[in-house]
Amino acid sequence: MRIGDIEIDPSVMLAPMAGVSNRAFRALARKQGATLCISEMINANALLHSSAKSYWLMEVDPGESPVGIQIAGSDPETMAAAAIAAEKEGADLIDINMGCPVQKVVKNGAGSALLNDFEGAVRVVSAVVSAVKIPVTVKMRAGWDDANITAPSLAEAFERVGVKAIALHARTREDQYKRPANWQYIKQVKERVGIPVIGNGDIDTPLNALRMMEETGADGVMIGRASLGDPWIFKRITHYLRYGEPLPAPTAQERAEMALWHVRRMVEIKGEPVAISEMRKQLAWYLKGTEDSALYRARCTQISTETDAQTLVAEWLHHTRNEALSWN
Ligand SMILES: Cc1cc2nc3c(=O)[nH]c(=O)nc-3n(C[C@H](O)[C@H](O)[C@H](O)COP(=O)(O)O)c2cc1C
Repeated sequence: MRIGDIEIDPSVMLAPMAGVSNRAFRALARKQGATLCISEMINANALLHSSAKSYWLMEVDPGESPVGIQIAGSDPETMAAAAIAAEKEGADLIDINMGCPVQKVVKNGAGSALLNDFEGAVRVVSAVVSAVKIPVTVKMRAGWDDANITAPSLAEAFERVGVKAIALHARTREDQYKRPANWQYIKQVKERVGIPVIGNGDIDTPLNALRMMEETGADGVMIGRASLGDPWIFKRITHYLRYGEPLPAPTAQERAEMALWHVRRMVEIKGEPVAISEMRKQLAWYLKGTEDSALYRARCTQISTETDAQTLVAEWLHHTRNEALSWN
């Protein structure tokens, strides 16, 4: 699959996830086979006001490529300025957020609110496409609610103004996460455009990645929640798409090493206090596999230093080695 002149093969991507898809997690997703990673959402308004945090969220590791920076907003000029800033930071592509359901974002006309504002959405996209040389993609939900499935016609309009790919999260804004993703929405978008369509929503195994592509004609898959604590999912899917055979799940030792690498990198990037507070939840995602793992996961909320994390992971590893692992 190509997005502009960026070759992505096989097309297995890390979804933008606020609080997760930072430089540390993108690096380990890439190492495990994700062929494109999208940053967490960056608020274009905050960038305009030179928010240090927003600039910092945009940072890209040296040599990190291809990487997309996702921007959110509803004002064309502000979004164009944000896109220019992201291009300068080293983004290979700009992704526009049209899926965020959060009230704070929607009340400003951004995120999934744009799904209900056809002309406004096209104005934002056109402004961003004209502002940068790199490809522009849009990540959207299917529509606001069941009565307003606007993604197919919006995607068609976005292609006309120069968007190079659409990622579709196959739910409406009203669905939030309450219902399973309806992959038929991906098919409906695919039928309306010539640019690549990336399917997203509930992909958690190599088999259902393949099934989604077969059922919808999607050109690629984007994985969010299933990669939390399990970045190996990218390798399992790319391997399956290439060779048609499954790979084994990671061992406890591999999980422990990955978890501690993640903690280490977060500490390097964010400093220990912030890194550890952000890693409490994420560390727990790695510590699965035995009946008693819940006890270790619960203890993740109490860590306050990297040493605490190392001790906890070592204890979990010792415990899992003495227990039969239940994941496969
Ligand atoms: C913690 C979290 C944060 C997210 N943040 C963003 C975001 O910043 N931008 C965005 O477009 N989608 C965001 N999403 C939505 C995901 O990119 C994805 O569309 C959704 O989770 C469905 O895919 P999945 O079933 O593979 O998780 C987020 C999802 C989660 C779970």
